[in-house]
Amino acid sequence: MDLPGYSYYFEVTLNIHPGSIGITILRASVLVVLHSISWMKVLVTHVEYIPLRDPLSGASLESARRIMEEAFIKPSVFRRKEALYPEYVPPSLPHRENQLRRLAEIFKPLIVNPGEASIKAVVVGGVGTGKTVTTRVFGTELRSIARRRGIDVRYVHINCHRDRTLYEVVSEIARQADVPISQRGFSPHEIFGYVHQYIDRQRSFLLIALDEFDYFVDAAGSDAVYFLMRVYDEHPELTKRINYILIMRSLSGLSKVDSATYSYVTRYIVSFEPYRSRELRDILRQRRDEAFHPGTVGDDVIGYIADLEGSDKGGSGNARAAIETLLLAGEAADSEGSQVVSVEHVRRARGYVAPDVVTISDSLQYLSLHELLVLKALIRNLRRSQAPYVTMGSVENEYRDICRLYDEKPRRHTQLYEYVVNMRRMGIVEAKPSGKGMRGRTTMIGIGGAPLDPLEKRVDELIKVRLGGRGQRA
Ligand SMILES: Nc1ncnc2c1ncn2[C@@H]1O[C@H](COP(=O)(O)OP(=O)(O)OP(=O)(O)O)[C@@H](O)[C@H]1O
Ligand SMILES: [Mg+2]
Repeated sequence: MDLPGYSYYFEVTLNIHPGSIGITILRASVLVVLHSISWMKVLVTHVEYIPLRDPLSGASLESARRIMEEAFIKPSVFRRKEALYPEYVPPSLPHRENQLRRLAEIFKPLIVNPGEASIKAVVVGGVGTGKTVTTRVFGTELRSIARRRGIDVRYVHINCHRDRTLYEVVSEIARQADVPISQRGFSPHEIFGYVHQYIDRQRSFLLIALDEFDYFVDAAGSDAVYFLMRVYDEHPELTKRINYILIMRSLSGLSKVDSATYSYVTRYIVSFEPYRSRELRDILRQRRDEAFHPGTVGDDVIGYIADLEGSDKGGSGNARAAIETLLLAGEAADSEGSQVVSVEHVRRARGYVAPDVVTISDSLQYLSLHELLVLKALIRNLRRSQAPYVTMGSVENEYRDICRLYDEKPRRHTQLYEYVVNMRRMGIVEAKPSGKGMRGRTTMIGIGGAPLDPLEKRVDELIKVRLGGRGQRA
């Protein structure tokens, strides 16, 4: 128990948050002397004011620190966001099994009979169909399978969008293949000759992927293509150490190449078709499981993005765009502190990715007053249900409420249905019959990828114009 006559010494620190300008600290030293149980003296011996500011700029360091600390500890839907970045190589490539198998068949001689032939394949397909990632995976796997069999295959991947002259390409081949060479003062032909000699001495092989090859054809010209591809024409006695994969969006990229070289390099073609919705769904699910915390992204969100991009649903079949949409939707959820990613976050993300809202806005001006009212009802319904599609019936109910609001006589069902058909024709709404699991058959209606808020604002403006400035009933 504390006895009278004793002294206690404290250091007290006060953290003060004056408005938003940050934390300042008051530190005081306090001496407490107990004279008796009921009487004591408190002496403040020292007060120190510590403004935590940058001495040069005067900015509050503590404030910056707090903002950053808060951002670091703020919960996020992401577990490992990097899995959604373009350079990330996923552990498996759903729906590219056939292409991998075909590449393996084409390059089989390199493993079973190395040196006998110089193999060339063309990988061709639209934007974001997995050409680069599949070729990279093929090249790195081939290297390790070959190594296990005692064959040294070096895989080189060159982006011709960046390195597009013959000199740049051969220098990059030398660098990635670990060929020690001082490149200064040598012509590309000399460098390439040296690369071949070196690889030959090492008894190694090269698999060279020339990505975005069209750029090389354009910049370096037909002769340069001839030089790289037909390297063994003049020396058929050499062991064939160099092999190529040419990656292109379309074979028209080879139109400038002479016809003999064209048929020579296009003997083996591996096509990458645009992804269908169902395929994108699998790709997106895999990324979701890697990038997000469990339970934050539902299958409805994945299905929605897959339908927006799927080639069978009118999209371009581009996996890159689909993955980017998922990333942006996650960021939209984070920025508003939501613990789950919703369809509306996807819509908002699509506002950045695709010009849907711009395209739709252009068509809106041709709609009649009641078409606009139906559209408004649809938007409100979609927002409330957080689903990609809602039933015709629920849109009709909402429409009648909205008519009351504007003092308008509601149109009948058949008329409303025609409005929907018309708006679908104009590309403003999507309509499809309900699948299984719904009582009876009804029409499900949705709106492409456009975010709802800006769309409703535009619809409201047009409704006002149609009503001659008359707004909602008070
Ligand atoms: N089957 C797949 N499984 C998993 N991810 C995939 C698959 N296909 C593509 N991706 C991913 O989609 C994105 C685009 O793929 P990639 O870069 O290979 O496309 P590309 O065909 O080379 O496109 P571009 O013509 O624009 O260069 C990458 O993030 C890639 O990892
Ligand atoms: Mg690519």
